Parts: sequence; structure tokens; C-alpha cells
Amino acid sequence: MQSSSNAMTYRRRRRAVPWAWLIALGCAGHPLASPAAEPLALQGIMKEMGRGMQAIVYGTSREDYAAVEKAALAIAGHPQPPLAEKMRLMAFVGTDAPRYKAMNGETHDNALALARASKSGNGEDVIAAFHKLQSSCLGCHQTFRKPFVEQFYGKADGRR
Ligand code: HEC
Repeated sequence: MQSSSNAMTYRRRRRAVPWAWLIALGCAGHPLASPAAEPLALQGIMKEMGRGMQAIVYGTSREDYAAVEKAALAIAGHPQPPLAEKMRLMAFVGTDAPRYKAMNGETHDNALALARASKSGNGEDVIAAFHKLQSSCLGCHQTFRKPFVEQFYGKADGRR
């Protein structure tokens, strides 16, 4: 009795082992199983630009165009990710690098145009320039955000 139950346990274990290995191997190769990746420096830069956009909206509401100008200039002069990260990003975008850079440049130019409009103190011009700036952020996000999030954070749906 005792020996037959031991034999059963043994057989069960032996059968269980290959499955455990298969599952472990399968998970290791799956992007979702990788430990949470460190956020890119790019993400911190983006968050800061997002806060700048809020400052611009709030400044426009108060007709505080000096505040708008300051935030627009900060967006235009946003810091770059460290060189090593930049190289990782460019290696990933590959042949789309010129497109990525063009969108970055367009955003920079639109932020400068917004700074100029706010200096003039014309509310309608400020709003029109803000609209253009916001559209250039959106353009890059629609093209690149999902593939970046999938690549660098392993999230299949492009969301965090
Ligand atoms: C050239 C491409 C590009 C442009 C232009 C761009 N972004 Fe981004 N943005 C990205 C990418 C790529 C991500 C995803 C980065 C990540 O999650 O690490 C992102 C993510 C973000 C996020 C989300 C950060 C988070 O917490 O997950 C915010 C906010 C943001 N961008 C704001 C802006 C604003 C505001 C502008 C325009 C003033 C802008 N971005 C312009 C590429 C761009």
C-alpha cells in the first residue's frame, strides 16, 4: 500500500516536470513575462512636456501670456535623452529615423511659434499656435508611441 502510493506520487511528479519546464520556457520567451522595464529618460522628458502643455492652457485661461511663453520655450528647449538611450531609440526606429526627427523638429518649431505668439499677447493667435503644437505632439504619438511602448516595456497593447 505504502509503496504503491509512493510509486503514484513519483509517476505524477515525473509527468509534471516536463510541463513545468515547457511553461517556464514559454514564459521566459514571452515579452509580458519580462520584469517591468526601467522607464526611458524619454518618458520623463515627455511627462515634463505634458505638464508644460497644462501650464500653457492654464496661462491662456488667465491671459498670463508671460507664463505661456515661458512654458512654450521650455518645450522647445526640452532636454535630450542620454546618448546611449538615443542610440537605442534610433536603432529601433531604424529607417523611420528621419521621420521621427522631422516630427521632433516640427514640434520644436511649433513651440517656438507659440512662444512668439504669446509675446505678442494676442489670445486668438496663442490658441491657434497651441492647436498646431498639440497636433504635432499627436502626430508623433499616433505613429511611434505604441511601437515604443511595446518595444521598451513589452506591453503588447501599447498601454501602461
Ligand atoms: C518625435 C516623437 C514625439 C513627439 C514630437 C512628442 N512625443 Fe510625447 N511621446 C513619444 C513617445 C515615443 C512616447 C512614449 C515614451 C515612453 O513611454 O517611454 C511619448 C509619450 C508621451 C507622454 C506620456 C508619458 C507617460 O507618462 O507615459 C506624454 C505626456 C507626452 N508624450 C507628451 C508630449 C507632448 C506634450 C508633446 C508635444 C509638445 C510630445 N509628447 C511630442 C514621442 C513623441
